[in-house]
Amino acid sequence: MTISNDSSAPLVVIAGITGLQGGSVARALAESDKPYRIRGLTRDPSKPTAQAFAGQGVQLVGVSLTADNVAGVAKAFQGADIVFLVTNFNEHMDKQREISEGKMMVDVAKEAGVKLLIWSGLESLSALSGGKFSRVEFFDAKSDITEYAKQSGVPLVVVQAGYYATNIFEGSYALKKQPDGSYVFGLPVPATTSVPVIDVAHDYGLYVRAAVENPALGAGSEVQSGTLISFGEMVAKLSEVSGKKITYVQMTREVFIEATGMPEYGPMLADMFQAFEVHGYYGPRPTTRTDLLAREPRSWADFLDATAVKDLLP
Ligand SMILES: NC(=O)c1ccc[n+]([C@@H]2O[C@H](COP(=O)([O-])OP(=O)(O)OC[C@H]3O[C@@H](n4cnc5c(N)ncnc54)[C@H](OP(=O)(O)O)[C@@H]3O)[C@@H](O)[C@H]2O)c1
Repeated sequence: MTISNDSSAPLVVIAGITGLQGGSVARALAESDKPYRIRGLTRDPSKPTAQAFAGQGVQLVGVSLTADNVAGVAKAFQGADIVFLVTNFNEHMDKQREISEGKMMVDVAKEAGVKLLIWSGLESLSALSGGKFSRVEFFDAKSDITEYAKQSGVPLVVVQAGYYATNIFEGSYALKKQPDGSYVFGLPVPATTSVPVIDVAHDYGLYVRAAVENPALGAGSEVQSGTLISFGEMVAKLSEVSGKKITYVQMTREVFIEATGMPEYGPMLADMFQAFEVHGYYGPRPTTRTDLLAREPRSWADFLDATAVKDLLP
């Protein structure tokens, strides 16, 4: 991993460096043969994930990226040539908060005069479905921020994050172990429904690096990460690799919502999967050609080969 401290190297400021996306961006830029200075943002520079980057030459800045902290964010973005932004809906589950924080960071990046803003946006599933699937706040909020950033005129690349490969193993819609030791993976959509799966920690940064280094994906571009695969194919491969009996079940919407154990957010997740089935994760947009990247990203099968699957199974 080489990170420059030469003042002639572009300064890249990375929000969420201790997280999956931001960490992946830092590693992908460090892998490049081009030199970058990297400033990583976290609320807690003393945490081990942050300190690991400090040991590799990343400058850490402790800052809270909240809408009321414009001065702190301005200081954190000062001198940046490139800013990478991600918002974290999961931490507060508040659409308006996500939008306010995203817009504030866009404003501050523009004010700092960045040459490139890279934003981890998503589609509006409300807009794609003509209002039918209107509850998916973390997609719609990110789309609002994208529109705001486009209107602002800041040089912008939107790098959409695909469906995390790890989603199948953790959280409210993960596969569930049965009393006989087999597993069931249930969603409110047919097994043929496809999503662009990505090993986010390993590969998301590859797409961001391409936005920085490959003129074909430069300012004005929209990048869609991941490799399309159906839930049925994912389960079949996982079953083969793990040697476990794993069955895909199409649940009714009602059963799925109950199974999430989250009456408030279950309908949002059901809308999300149903929108994927009807309109696609990225709507009509194709996933980005992988020959534009510095290396091939991992497919689902590659991810399973590289992972201790037995440790991931609940
Ligand atoms: N799961 C999926 O399939 C999927 C797909 C596409 C997009 N997404 C989106 O991905 C986003 C999460 O990204 P991720 O996976 O990289 O998250 P993550 O691994 O949970 O990391 C979150 C990062 O955000 C930082 N952060 C959170 N709140 C902050 C604040 N107030 N001030 C400063 N830093 C803050 C954290 O830093 P510290 O804790 O160190 O301060 C951490 O580095 C979500 O918005 C989600 O909607 C998820």
